[in-house]
Amino acid sequence: MFRKVITSTKYLVKKPIAKNSLLKVDRNALRINKQFISATVPKQQKEEVTVTFIRANGERITTKGKVGDHLLDVVVNNNIDLDGFGACEGTLTCSTCHLIFKKEDFDRLPEKAGDEELDMLDLAYDLTDTSRLGCQITLTKNLDGLEVKVPATINDARS
Ligand code: FES
Repeated sequence: MFRKVITSTKYLVKKPIAKNSLLKVDRNALRINKQFISATVPKQQKEEVTVTFIRANGERITTKGKVGDHLLDVVVNNNIDLDGFGACEGTLTCSTCHLIFKKEDFDRLPEKAGDEELDMLDLAYDLTDTSRLGCQITLTKNLDGLEVKVPATINDARS
């Protein structure tokens, strides 16, 4: 038995390896792996949260946003008609995405405003203690049910 093992090992070591055979095995294993994964793991979907925009006239627009998106994305992706909103497309140069939060929502926002955002907020009309720029607010699961007021007037700081 011992002798057989030795012979067998020698055979394996000396056996010539066909060109690209290892690569073929790897590709095949990868293909099988992908098939296994797609059959057993459901495609991950981004979780959605509900967001309500409230116009100055009291009209409420309730919609859905995906976790990880900015509030500006929610407005754009859902074709919400907010005149002039997001004019600079999130490059922090316009302040047209100014939104006003309820105090409790403001306190649970995932990130505090940075200096650039604060500078731009200073140029927004109807500024409040709970104002933020929608292009800087990233949706988290914790923000489900968020309600934000859209100020009556906007200021495009670029003009
Ligand atoms: S979209 Fe211009 S500052 Fe937010």
